[in-house]
Amino acid sequence: MSNAKGYVDVDYLKLVAELTQPAKEDSYARLHLQHGQRVLDVGCGPGTDTITLSRLVGPEGRVVGIDADAEMVAKANERARAAGVGELVTHKVGDALSLPFEAGEFDASRSERLFEHLLHPEQVLAEMTRVTRPGGRVVVLDTDWATVSFDTPHTDLERRLARVLAEHVLNNGYSGRQLYRLFKHQGLEDITVELVPLFTTHYSFARLIFCLDTVEADAVRLGIATEEECGHWRADLEAADADGEFFASVGMVLAAGRKTE
Ligand SMILES: C[S@@+](CC[C@H](N)C(=O)[O-])C[C@H]1O[C@@H](n2cnc3c(N)ncnc32)[C@H](O)[C@@H]1O
Repeated sequence: MSNAKGYVDVDYLKLVAELTQPAKEDSYARLHLQHGQRVLDVGCGPGTDTITLSRLVGPEGRVVGIDADAEMVAKANERARAAGVGELVTHKVGDALSLPFEAGEFDASRSERLFEHLLHPEQVLAEMTRVTRPGGRVVVLDTDWATVSFDTPHTDLERRLARVLAEHVLNNGYSGRQLYRLFKHQGLEDITVELVPLFTTHYSFARLIFCLDTVEADAVRLGIATEEECGHWRADLEAADADGEFFASVGMVLAAGRKTE
């Protein structure tokens, strides 16, 4: 997976987890979990969410995480063991496009920041819906990268870089705004949508979470920006950082629905 488009590593995911913690909590609440239930986390990464979910379903419940990246799955299993929930949580290598589970096997399924990497998000939501029991909940938290915003005087370049991130660095950078439509197409009921604003005042962290090294390099390679423009953009962001005034934000979308009985 390390060469895959939009690949992120375990350390990056731990940093982002701190930023998205309130949205994560909200997404767990939307699952309406009770003790003893079975829940699936699709694109589970290093197991940040499965470990918390295991506490919500208790020792009689079952939590399964699935991820295409064997390294993430190994890390998730290691972290679950370290957290003392290794017996309750299973992490497996697998493709979200074809989930290796029976229809209706779970009371609820969720995913977070998976859809932005997908070429076929509708198929993955169909799979999540299939493996959820009738009446069970499906919850997806994802980003609308069109909303990325920097306090910069280079507003035209900023928009071009935002498009490079959404349209070239990621497979599906506008995933958040698609969720309501995708949920409707699956026939999910009681659909709710929440917008989740995130911001940071830490420039080095922003460079990481907005993949700025890759975005700037791709923009130059694709002829969308010049080296000189990117140099001015970076210099201004660095100056803002030095003055303690750096600010950047982005919006996520949390969609939840219930599978028809
Ligand atoms: C941005 S990370 C998010 C991880 C985790 N949900 C979190 O919030 O910390 C996206 C994850 O989706 C996984 N992924 C991408 N495409 C996948 C696919 N087709 N099937 C399963 N997992 C996939 C990646 O390996 C990665 O771990």
